[in-house]
Amino acid sequence: MTIATFDDARAAVRGGAEPEAAARDLVGSMTPEERLWCLDGDAPTWAGLTFLVGGGYHRTPFHAARVERVGLAGISFSDGPRGCAIGNATAFPVSMARGATWDPELEERVGDAIGRELRAAGANLTGAVCVNVLRHPAWGRAQETYGEDPFHVGELGAAFTRGLQHHVMACVKHFACNSMENARFSVDIEIDEVALHEVYLPHFKRIVDEGAAAVMSAYNSVNGEWCGQSHALLTDVLRGEWGFRGFVISDWIFGLRDAATSLAAGLGLEMPYRMVRFRDLPSALERGEASWDDVDTAVQHLVATLLRFDDVLSAAPPPPEVTGTAKHRDLAREVAARSIVLLRNEAVAGKPVLPLAPDARLAVVGRLADRVNIGDGGSSDVWDLECHTVLGGLQSAFGAVTHDDGSDPARAAALAADADAAVVVVGYTFLDEGEYIGQTDPSLRDLFPPADEPEVVAEFQAAVALLAERTVPERIKERPVGFSIGGDRTSLRLPEADVALIRAVAAANACTVVVIQSGSAVVVTEWVDFVPALVQSWYAGCQAGPGLADVLLGHVNPSARLPFSVPADESHLPPFDREATSFTYDRWHGWWHLRRTGQAAAFPFGFGLSYTEFALLDDVAVSVVGGAVVATGALRNVGARDGADVVQLYADLPDADAPARLVGFLRVEVPAGETERFELQVPLDRLSTRDPEAHAWRQPTGRHVFRVARHAEDPNAIRVAVTL
Ligand code: BGC
Repeated sequence: MTIATFDDARAAVRGGAEPEAAARDLVGSMTPEERLWCLDGDAPTWAGLTFLVGGGYHRTPFHAARVERVGLAGISFSDGPRGCAIGNATAFPVSMARGATWDPELEERVGDAIGRELRAAGANLTGAVCVNVLRHPAWGRAQETYGEDPFHVGELGAAFTRGLQHHVMACVKHFACNSMENARFSVDIEIDEVALHEVYLPHFKRIVDEGAAAVMSAYNSVNGEWCGQSHALLTDVLRGEWGFRGFVISDWIFGLRDAATSLAAGLGLEMPYRMVRFRDLPSALERGEASWDDVDTAVQHLVATLLRFDDVLSAAPPPPEVTGTAKHRDLAREVAARSIVLLRNEAVAGKPVLPLAPDARLAVVGRLADRVNIGDGGSSDVWDLECHTVLGGLQSAFGAVTHDDGSDPARAAALAADADAAVVVVGYTFLDEGEYIGQTDPSLRDLFPPADEPEVVAEFQAAVALLAERTVPERIKERPVGFSIGGDRTSLRLPEADVALIRAVAAANACTVVVIQSGSAVVVTEWVDFVPALVQSWYAGCQAGPGLADVLLGHVNPSARLPFSVPADESHLPPFDREATSFTYDRWHGWWHLRRTGQAAAFPFGFGLSYTEFALLDDVAVSVVGGAVVATGALRNVGARDGADVVQLYADLPDADAPARLVGFLRVEVPAGETERFELQVPLDRLSTRDPEAHAWRQPTGRHVFRVARHAEDPNAIRVAVTL
């Protein structure tokens, strides 16, 4: 059968043809211009940029590779990690908050809800799955990923991908080693093969294995080559070693430097505009510096993926009303509560400060208490119009609430002195951490084409004219400057004014609860001993206040655990230089680094308290069954409230110089006074190590010590040695 349209290809696949074969035939029937059209975004650069900075980002998806003559829909892309970036969608807690739930099942439900809203907004592809490991808490985009550990990050990212892909194609980003922000367009990451494959890539592989449709390359370079044109990453690893069958897109605007090199390296689409490739590829092809075979291969990857996702993408999109439904907002509230990490809960007058009684008279203070603070102002921003602040949530949940913005600590303390308990809301905003779109290397401007093509501009403007206006949230209108400020943090401590406020309020009210809003670790050492209760509550989305109230009242017993280590001092972390032009990544950051250097964390990776107490029982067994290590045991809730704990399995490898690994975890719900059994399965390849000479994995052998624990530094962990 002749395949001359996407419908023909679809029919062939339905009749049993391989998507790759049908794609090859369809691409073979396309003109050279059509094939080139599929190698970058559909919008013209200059007109596209003007539209973008004028608020266009939240109005419509980015389109690419749409070829009407053959019925190819191409891609319609929207971010993002905490909700659909188009229109006024539901803002969920940021990914780091969701990482703290340690609950892939919940994350899959979030993916399903965000995926549904994305599809309703006209997207068929999303850049929601950001999984760069948090190498250092100063990373500006920390909030967009799930944590510092590649196994944990991979499990959460895979669950999110599963949920999203019920409705749209998921794109995992930023491939690879993109864990600094200000220098993202210029930094070269030097990394050896072992650190790359054991620490910086396993989570990408996990999500590729889960079936993610697309991969987005990173801006930075790795070992001397820009990620958007790295044959080593995009072809040797991704396709050669991992067997990836989807397509690769660049990061936005400055994602590649050389049209021909990027094509030969395996980059499918330059996003989002007709920019470097539009300007340079035709002449490179003419000169024989780029090959038409590579063009065809790139287009085939895209078409084959669209065919593989045809069942999902040809289903009717949900109606616009699915956006912001009560169901999605209830889920956002559940996640907000389930992501709150209880870090400290000391007794005052013989009783832990939390939970609070519903009739407690509360003083809620701090500049963030009455502010919609849902995260950074860059590509992951969600223009939700129904966001509940902490103050709003607590006012609805408690009978008597007073409020002070904390600008005068003495005034706030006086208010607190009059209340039964004080809640101090501190932390950061998009001004302190987030995507950085500020000063960049001026030479990047050389990548822009001299001018757009008039007929493409005319078509683009005609499409823009048809777009609905979007309602701009008040919080955006108040912003002092453009798209985003953020960037990498300059400090891991709270602003001095926050610390002064905490001290003043804690001195006035013994029952003081500090609530931290941030995207990753905050060093609390200089003040934490003065307050009896502390919770990490993130940028918690549209239901931040109600979710916090659920925890403070004890309607939800905290079960979140830190997805990173909070150091006692910044100097305990590996170095971070936000201006670096080159930087070495190794296998030691986060909990591995602290363990190796013998520095106890202020709050370790995997740590979190509950309103009940848990104990791991002694009868832990670890054995090898078939191709997996199986750990079984029992967890007892020795307190008086139902609750959930996260059982964590760590492995010390036979090589004493190798970092230990988190190899399994499970959230276990246990009613008060009862015991639940658990089982963790660890496929043996989760223990393999990279052989840099053979460029391959070594199967695990020798003595491994498994630790069943409740966090990375758990002194009561139960150890079992197994020889493989
Ligand atoms: C970000 C990506 C994002 C893209 C499109 C870029 O600035 O780095 O993470 O997916 O914009 O929104």
